[in-house]
Amino acid sequence: MLLCSALLPFSIICFFDLNYYDRIAPIYDRTRWLTASVAEEVADFIVKLVGATPATSFLEPGVGTGLNVLPLVKRGYSVTGIDVSGEMLDRFRQKFDEVPANLHLIQADASQLPFLDRSFDVVLTVHMIHAVADWRKFLDEIDRVLKPGGFYLQAQWITPPARREFEGYFRSILSGEDRDRRLKQVDAAIGAIDADSYLRQKGYSSSYHLAKSWLVSNTVEELLGCFRSRAYGLCWQVEDEVFDRVMPEFESFCLEHYGSLQTELSSEAKFEIWLYTAKMSH
Ligand SMILES: C[S@@+](CC[C@H](N)C(=O)[O-])C[C@H]1O[C@@H](n2cnc3c(N)ncnc32)[C@H](O)[C@@H]1O
Repeated sequence: MLLCSALLPFSIICFFDLNYYDRIAPIYDRTRWLTASVAEEVADFIVKLVGATPATSFLEPGVGTGLNVLPLVKRGYSVTGIDVSGEMLDRFRQKFDEVPANLHLIQADASQLPFLDRSFDVVLTVHMIHAVADWRKFLDEIDRVLKPGGFYLQAQWITPPARREFEGYFRSILSGEDRDRRLKQVDAAIGAIDADSYLRQKGYSSSYHLAKSWLVSNTVEELLGCFRSRAYGLCWQVEDEVFDRVMPEFESFCLEHYGSLQTELSSEAKFEIWLYTAKMSH
């Protein structure tokens, strides 16, 4: 499980194109499956989980287009978001006629959080921790900016199984050609992250929560459209020339396997949260 830590920063930097989010910002929201109504329910869950009061402050490093925290902003909580992608942040800003005073957006590398110690009650990361150069230093930073007794919520929206299976077919076409070396290295780097042990050593307690599960449905054609626009890491971590060769093969496979590109793939997504609670003496 644990990859050589000395290699990890290099691996992550090599295999994640940080600017890629600038390119996919315009299609980010519509190629994801967290809807506004689900995000509202997740926000209800988070507010209860951390016992938020009107004074509670939230930070989301890697905030992107704000899908997770938009409901918290609308409810008046102080929300700070950091992202390396100016385009993703712009998409978030465009969700308001005027950016509200309780939302603070900063374009920066979240590896070094530009905040004083003990600044926030809650830090939330969603699909993010694998993207920083050094996840241990990143967790050190989260630990530093959290107030004593504060909460770190490491969350993810689990890919619905039907979509995961669809992606698996794409990957097996790649691997049949021995083309998915980079993807495997990325997976290994992600698998090497052991945030739970690291934070427990720092005195955090942890618990797992299923905030929400919901049904996601897409036609095969819609999913192929997401792939054609290279909306996911699975697509952009493959060289252009390889991607262009593999896609027609994948499309033919889909037609044969699913019978029609209009076949609907439905399965359940999950919003999972690992809640880490800092010590009061922190
Ligand atoms: C998969 S997206 C997740 C966005 C958002 N958290 C969500 O759940 O929709 C990852 C985001 O992290 C940002 N990101 C990646 N590396 C980063 C870094 N080192 N510092 C700040 N943001 C980063 C990307 O620009 C992107 O917006």
